[in-house]
Amino acid sequence: MEKTWWKESVIYQIYPRSFNDSNGDGIGDLKGITEKLDYLKDLGIDVIWLSPVYKSPNDDNGYDISDYQDIMDEFGTMQDWEELLQEIHHRGMRLIMDLVVNHSSDEHAWFVESRKSKDNPYRDYYIWRPGKDGHEPNNWESAFSGSTWEYDEATNEYFLHIFSKKQPDLNWENPKLRDEVYKMMTWWLDKGIDGFRMDVINFISKVTGLPDAPNPNGKKYASGSEFFMNGPRIHEFLHEMNENVLSKYDIITVGEMPGATVEDAKHYTGHDREELNMVFTFEHMDLDSGPNGKWDLKKLNLLDLKDNISKWQTGLNGEGWNSLYLNNHDQPRMVSRFGNDKEYRVESAKMLVTFLHMLQGTPYVYQGEEIGMTNVRFDSIEDYKDIEILNMYHEKVIEGNEDLSKVMESIYVKGRDNARTPFQWDESEHAGFTTGEPWLRVNPNYKEINAKQAVNDTNSIYHYYKKIIQLRKNHTIIVYGDYELLLPDHETIFAYTRSYENQKLLVVTNFSRESAPFTLPAHVELNTPELLISNYEVAADDITSFDLRPFEARVYKSKIRYGKLPLK
Ligand code: NOJ
Repeated sequence: MEKTWWKESVIYQIYPRSFNDSNGDGIGDLKGITEKLDYLKDLGIDVIWLSPVYKSPNDDNGYDISDYQDIMDEFGTMQDWEELLQEIHHRGMRLIMDLVVNHSSDEHAWFVESRKSKDNPYRDYYIWRPGKDGHEPNNWESAFSGSTWEYDEATNEYFLHIFSKKQPDLNWENPKLRDEVYKMMTWWLDKGIDGFRMDVINFISKVTGLPDAPNPNGKKYASGSEFFMNGPRIHEFLHEMNENVLSKYDIITVGEMPGATVEDAKHYTGHDREELNMVFTFEHMDLDSGPNGKWDLKKLNLLDLKDNISKWQTGLNGEGWNSLYLNNHDQPRMVSRFGNDKEYRVESAKMLVTFLHMLQGTPYVYQGEEIGMTNVRFDSIEDYKDIEILNMYHEKVIEGNEDLSKVMESIYVKGRDNARTPFQWDESEHAGFTTGEPWLRVNPNYKEINAKQAVNDTNSIYHYYKKIIQLRKNHTIIVYGDYELLLPDHETIFAYTRSYENQKLLVVTNFSRESAPFTLPAHVELNTPELLISNYEVAADDITSFDLRPFEARVYKSKIRYGKLPLK
């Protein structure tokens, strides 16, 4: 397998609005990020991914862009951005930017023109259709509730928006639009950035004719995702983008891809395909949802997680590349979702990062995860700011009369604001995030959970992250080794091995608050195993069978059997 720096990197995602506010307006900003770069360098981070910082009316916190080549007022200026890039590079780190080109803001100059008249030169930059029998052109449901179509009086037509009505979809069928996008990407790359995370990039090719979605339950709107996820021209577009832009630079590319399967990912990330380096799969994020989507809560079955992770680990081995994540700005906090955010918060956060970072792929750390930040429960809907939450609440509670407590519970478990509460820097007011009023309330647990406390306590989650990130840098096997699942039917222990040349890693994690006996399967041979890391004190005992404590994690590495090669 080809070795590359982006396979060996650890990436840290910053959601700028919630990271660090330098000017007291309650909103995180670029200077605030620059102030904290030493913190990230100390953690061992190689690459920083910034969620969008471009000009935006903030209907969806920057994922609605009105100018791709300028900076959002609240975040600072282009000069602040240049300084940030310079300071990142100065510390030997890299920067990747969010590329949001499935849609723009309705306030983007292209759309302002496009909606003016049917013969405007920008008309075809977006997807316009006449109504059908006085209704929307089709029955697709928006990701943020309601129809994906918005009627526009000026020209008596509808435009498509898979997300909010302030996020019209760009028309990738139009070669002029594609050229503009490639030019804009080149402009950023020439400024010296090190790659892109591409927002819902597998949505850019829509099925011709935009047919109605099947609607067996007779709902008002139905999911049309099969007509725009991994659509007919997607590989052609990504290949063209690669040829025109990406291939000219030594960069990281990661495509956010809801609905992409392992087979799709082989096509998107295969080394001879010339498309992208890796994708964000959603499959493991959907395992705790029922048939009615993300708000339909379901308890996670660990066996489903094992199946899924194993499928991606073995499927992409040598054929593509995995990105590894358990949370981001759209997902609940991982310690609350997969671990225990109460008495075993520290143990379970350490267990989860062990489980994730020992897999094959490039790991992503989402801000605050490294100090074990948790989900939040605000009593009032007024305290929530996310458009997805608010639209869903409106549809279900205000219009739909659904049970309020059930809806609130689903927000507590799955709402995106769980991940967006301000970063908890210290125990001072507003967790040291701002001297003003934060745009979203701080999680009330900031007095116990904050970076200052974590940095000062050598037993903290933060120090464990430092150690685990360092391990990846010192052991090639962690990056490149082959994966094999052990104990496939065990309901609480997730154990696997990694093999590389003549070395082996054994990773054993307990996903439960109950202790569990572990027995090493007979076929796994380990030669004088060495404990690399664990989240509890471990006596030098027999590793073929031991009791795992609540949320315990251990990693053993077996030594090289022959020759005089140094341990690496
Ligand atoms: C995915 C982004 O991660 C999410 O935050 C956003 O709302 C949608 N795409 C639309 O851009």
